[in-house]
Amino acid sequence: MKNSEKKNTLDLLKRLFSNYVQKHKIKLVISIFCMIIIAAATALNAWMMQPVLDEIFINKNKTLIVIIPLAIILVAILKGTASYFQSIFMSFIGYKLVADVQDQMFKSVIKCDLSFHNEVNSGTIVSRFIADVGALSRGVHNVIINIIKDSLTFLFLVGVMFYHDTKLALIALFVFPVAIYPIRRIGKRLRKISKSTQVGFGLLTSKLSESFTAIKTIKAFSTENFESKKINKEITNIFNLTYKSTKVNSIARPLMEIISGFAIGAIIFIGGSQVILDQTTPGTFFSFLTALLMAYQPIKSLASLNATLQIAMAAAERVFEILDKKTQIIENKSPKDNYLRKDKYNLKISNLSFKYKNSSKFILKNVDLEILAGEKIALVGHSGAGKTTLMNLLPRFFDPSKGKIEIGGINIQDLSLHFLRNYFSLVSQDITLFDETVKYNICYGSNNYSSKDLKKACKKANCEEFIKKLPKGFNQLIGENGAKLSGGQKQRIAIARAFIRNSPFLLLDEATSSLDSKSEQKIQDSLSSLISNKTALIIAHRLSTVIDADRIVVINNGEIIDIGKHSSLIKKSKIYKNLYELQFKKQSYEKNIKA
Ligand SMILES: Nc1ncnc2c1ncn2[C@@H]1O[C@H](COP(=O)(O)OP(=O)(O)OP(=O)(O)O)[C@@H](O)[C@H]1O
Ligand SMILES: [Mg+2]
Repeated sequence: MKNSEKKNTLDLLKRLFSNYVQKHKIKLVISIFCMIIIAAATALNAWMMQPVLDEIFINKNKTLIVIIPLAIILVAILKGTASYFQSIFMSFIGYKLVADVQDQMFKSVIKCDLSFHNEVNSGTIVSRFIADVGALSRGVHNVIINIIKDSLTFLFLVGVMFYHDTKLALIALFVFPVAIYPIRRIGKRLRKISKSTQVGFGLLTSKLSESFTAIKTIKAFSTENFESKKINKEITNIFNLTYKSTKVNSIARPLMEIISGFAIGAIIFIGGSQVILDQTTPGTFFSFLTALLMAYQPIKSLASLNATLQIAMAAAERVFEILDKKTQIIENKSPKDNYLRKDKYNLKISNLSFKYKNSSKFILKNVDLEILAGEKIALVGHSGAGKTTLMNLLPRFFDPSKGKIEIGGINIQDLSLHFLRNYFSLVSQDITLFDETVKYNICYGSNNYSSKDLKKACKKANCEEFIKKLPKGFNQLIGENGAKLSGGQKQRIAIARAFIRNSPFLLLDEATSSLDSKSEQKIQDSLSSLISNKTALIIAHRLSTVIDADRIVVINNGEIIDIGKHSSLIKKSKIYKNLYELQFKKQSYEKNIKA
């Protein structure tokens, strides 16, 4: 257990070093050189105690009284300069490491499959960015900087001690192995506590973000106190863990103080007796004692450094876990994008079955469907039938468990993801907008557009009018997920976005929530204009969509059970008739009333 943990720490440090530190070789070498100067200067100060006492105080040497103070000033200047450069270069390396890790982490997380994001709570990921990287940063800072500096200083001081008196030096060093055992135990416990603390931080972050996102529901159900209690539970948990961690951590220093107290007492007794018996000079003894007192300082800080190191390593483990996440949606290394002709190609789904990871139930079973270029297909079925799931397979948010999907005869798994996802334009049931300007949201994900395109898209999506009325027009900030816009306005922004993107194939998951008739009409108009010269697969919740569709595909329990036009399906498909009665007929009734 001990060995594996040690190896683990070593592996993690090696990885951190080779990936993030090694590339700053020159800065590192200068820093280490500066650390050697600092350590040597400290040892020199201790060594100088001997001539100060023996030559100046006892022998009253007139030359040395000038030389030694000058030497001390010189050493101080040297040490100060070295400390400055050591500090700025090591800080650079430490902070750069953190920045690099965060950057890589985001790139890795954002590339993870949807299935990963469905499983892992976003709060957990956020806390890895903030809390774990923070712990790593503190660790790297204190550890890299101080471990080298303290070890070097310790070694130089021990050198001075051995130079003066080997026997006394051995007695003093006896303390060192005695202290190692408790320090290691403390480190191990801290690492364990740190793991639970991290889980706690993850929970707190996710619960916080959940509460703030659901603020309207909380107010409506008047559950502020309930939410406060929930959050308080997490906060108390973190408090308990951090306090426990500090309690454990606080043992290290006093323990070292006590052990070194014993050692110093013993040394003064033995060394003092030697001076009394004239076996050594007072200067030699004082120089030894100074070196010893100075040497305990780095040892004491090394003791608490181990704690910081263990916490940082626990954080590093979790950070690397994210960096090492492998995506399951694997891109073909030599994609066949260029084999596709830029016009006419059909989308063909053959014998496709699908189940979600960690679930045994097939959500889609033996689906066969060919959609011709330019065709408009309406997909209908009861809630939970698998409509959204089928749509998610086309841009490869998930890969099918069995069967294949082809575009123009090429399996979509042989196309680059960039090409594939640009090929489809997705307007989903739940629209996601960014807390940015109107323009930013409409143009999101599109690079090549002119302001003329933007105007045209807004006009076709029926956005022009309301955008004009906004105080800042296109530059109006719209709030978190479009909080400052109406439901219909949000939908029209999403449609304008699809216009700008101008992909040949439109995937549309119609919103189930119905809007007022005027708004509804506007959206309907903009949608029909959007799909007019595209291929489209539409999960239909509107009567007009099914009536206008070239073909209607009826899906039930993950299987396609009927395909046809409205007029024929209403006669031959029981399920369609049932759906019509439940979902669509009401709309025609409402329409008649309004007419
Ligand atoms: N990420 C997931 N992991 C596991 N099961 C899922 C996941 N997403 C959906 N399901 C399940 O797959 C089934 C089909 O869901 P899907 O979202 O495709 O239905 P739908 O036909 O779009 O329904 P609706 O009309 O209500 O939107 C449901 O039973 C659902 O519980
Ligand atoms: Mg759905």
